Amino acid sequence: MGKIVIAIDGYSGCGKSSTAKAVAKDLGYTYIDSGAMYRAATLYFLENYLNPANPRDVTKGLKNLEITFHPNPDTQKQETYLNGLNVENEIRSMRVSEKVSELAKVKEIRAELVAQQQRLGKKKGVVMDGRDIGSVVFPEAELKVFMTADLETRAYRRQQELLEKGDLVDLDQIQKNLAERDRIDSSRAESPLIKMEDAVEIDTSHLSFEAQVAQIVHLAQQKIETQ
Ligand code: DC
Repeated sequence: MGKIVIAIDGYSGCGKSSTAKAVAKDLGYTYIDSGAMYRAATLYFLENYLNPANPRDVTKGLKNLEITFHPNPDTQKQETYLNGLNVENEIRSMRVSEKVSELAKVKEIRAELVAQQQRLGKKKGVVMDGRDIGSVVFPEAELKVFMTADLETRAYRRQQELLEKGDLVDLDQIQKNLAERDRIDSSRAESPLIKMEDAVEIDTSHLSFEAQVAQIVHLAQQKIETQ
């Protein structure tokens, strides 16, 4: 039985990351959070006063940007590092969420991050979540999932997630941010978020977390058996 690539795309905040993580754990696969890479790049640009809309800043930024993932020694969960520093918490802040879609529109930045993502998935046995995984990063992925959920559900879930980290954010602010990111991510010229024809759509609005994970694991096992 061979290993496969599982691509999970969808709107902001519909639980792609936590689902992808659980699916990877179940299958003994590696989970890669492509959104964390765009977030880490955004943090770098913010901290260095670089403007992603300025080509000179983009060249400068990309030269000094090293994004890696390492497991937390206590929880074993993959965490994001920017130039050797753990930025896992910072990249989830509203400060980064509010700027990330602007940076993710830039062709040169996408080209660099996509190349890194393709290298990480070369040996297969990966679950990667994002916006263009099934369309651009791994168009040959054996399993493509397109996740959706209604906006209110997504905003509420994201609020709970932030709250668990001790960050109390207004529901309305989260909802506006999710809607705005959906708009930019779906309408940009470079690799917009689209549902591929060969992707299985899963609406998680009324599904429990366990049920959505089980559904994807089941689909994956069917694919793995035929490899
Ligand atoms: O998955 P996320 O919400 O952490 O992603 C943050 C942003 O990064 C998202 O609004 C758009 C961008 N992104 C992207 O353009 N392509 C990806 N493959 C992943 C994320």
